[in-house]
Amino acid sequence: MNIILLGPPGAGKGTQSARLVEHHGMRQLSTGDMLRAAVAAQTSIGLRAKAVMDAGELVSDEIVSALIDAELLALPERAGAIFDGYPRTAHQAEQLDGILEKHNRQLHRVIELEVDEEALVRRISGRFSCAECGAGYHDEFILPQVPGTCDRCGAHEFKRRPDDNEHTVRKRLQLYRSETAPILPLYEQRGIVSRIDGMAPVDEVYRMIVKLIGTPSEHH
Ligand code: AP5
Repeated sequence: MNIILLGPPGAGKGTQSARLVEHHGMRQLSTGDMLRAAVAAQTSIGLRAKAVMDAGELVSDEIVSALIDAELLALPERAGAIFDGYPRTAHQAEQLDGILEKHNRQLHRVIELEVDEEALVRRISGRFSCAECGAGYHDEFILPQVPGTCDRCGAHEFKRRPDDNEHTVRKRLQLYRSETAPILPLYEQRGIVSRIDGMAPVDEVYRMIVKLIGTPSEHH
């Protein structure tokens, strides 16, 4: 089962991907995470991408598609892929078709998380994560059970993304509308698009996704 999770910044793509990885044995392919890792490691891609990401602009199609291609190569054949934050332009969608064909994979479903844009700004500005293991939290909605301690790994350091401020979020939302949302009709023509209410509580959204893609045993 290979799926695309589509939705504007803060829609919950990363949150839901993490659950699918943990409970469904799928692999998350997040171009945002890959780019942030490149920035942290100061690779040539990271050095080029940093200013673009901080401004909320899109990194070039060639760079992100090459990252996806490399990740898919390393993915065990039986592991399902969750494309999180990719494709984001019509050209990336075209490139993904070629990459999937090359790796002998099929795209089974595109799940769009529908959300209220104003709520997204609130979600994103409250977002933080564990500096050690990356577990995601939110100032209002998802706090660690013991304040200041990560539920998953027990670490005490947390971090926030530099692009998680209102100005950049509005830019990212605008690009989602102009560049990313227009790729949906392509997948609609193939009959593989499902829409989910991304404003529902995290557990509820997850239940709806699992209902759509089935349980792991149903994939084989
Ligand atoms: P990327 O990392 O992909 O960021 P994004 O798409 O803007 O998405 P986010 O990670 O902000 O949101 P999300 O949907 O994962 O939400 P989350 O689950 O964290 O991209 C960053 C940058 O990299 C881009 O701007 C661009 O520059 C570059 N880039 C990446 N991919 C690219 C590509 N393909 N092409 C070109 N450039 C690319 O949730 C958000 C918050 O809400 C969290 O705090 C969470 O706890 C909370 N939350 C989640 N779900 C719920 C819920 N149901 N109820 C209440 N709270 C919730």
